[in-house]
Amino acid sequence: MTSPAYIALEGLEGCGKSTHTKRLAEHLDAVMTREPGGTRIGGLLRAILADPENTDLSPRTEALLMAADRAQHMAEVIQPALARGQHVVSDRSIYSTLAYQGYGRRLGTPDLLNISTWALDGRLPDMVVFISVPTPILNERLAKRDLDRFEREGADFFTRINDGFAQLREADPERWIVIDGTAPKDDVEVAIRTAVLARLNQ
Ligand code: TMP
Repeated sequence: MTSPAYIALEGLEGCGKSTHTKRLAEHLDAVMTREPGGTRIGGLLRAILADPENTDLSPRTEALLMAADRAQHMAEVIQPALARGQHVVSDRSIYSTLAYQGYGRRLGTPDLLNISTWALDGRLPDMVVFISVPTPILNERLAKRDLDRFEREGADFFTRINDGFAQLREADPERWIVIDGTAPKDDVEVAIRTAVLARLNQ
C-alpha cells in the first residue's frame, strides 16, 4: 500500500486506544484524530453524546449524531489529509458505530453501515487495529476514572459490543489487525507499529 492510508484504532473503553493512536501517529508522521470530536463541530456533538445528563437521547439520535460527527470529520480532516499525501490515524471510526449502536443499542448493522458509508462519502478505513483486552481488566482500569454516558452502561451492553466487534472482524478479516492489549504499553506499541508497517509496505 503506497498511497496514504486511513488507519483506525478500535476497542472498548480503557483498552489503550488513545495512547496508541498518539504513538502510531507520531511514528508515521500522520494526522492524529478521533471520533467523535475530531473537529470543532464534532467537539460540540461529542459533548452532547458524552454528557451523563442526556439520559433521554434515543438510540437512533445517538447513531445520527455519530454519523454527523463522521461526515464533518471526513470533510474537514480525513479527506484533506489523504489528499495532501498524509496518513491518518483515528481513535475510533465507523466500526464503533456498528459495534456500539448496531450491537450495543441493538439497531442492527445494515442501516448504520449505509448511513455511515454515506457520511464518509464511501471512504472506509483501509485498516483497523483492534486492541483486545478482556473485560475484567477493562473494568479495573475504568474504576479509576470519571465515567461518561457510555461508560455508565451495564456489563451486558459491553458484552454485546465486544461480541459485535468479533463479528465485524470475522466478516472482514483482511481489514482488521488484532493486538493483545494486555502486554506492557511499549510492547503493544511495537506490535501495532510492526503490523501496520507490514501492511503499508505490502
Ligand atoms: P472514546 O472512548 O474514544 O472517548 O469514545 C467515546 C464514546 O463514544 C465511547 O464510549 C464509544 C462511543 N462511540 C459510539 O458509541 N459510537 C461511535 O460511532 C463512536 C465513534 C464512539
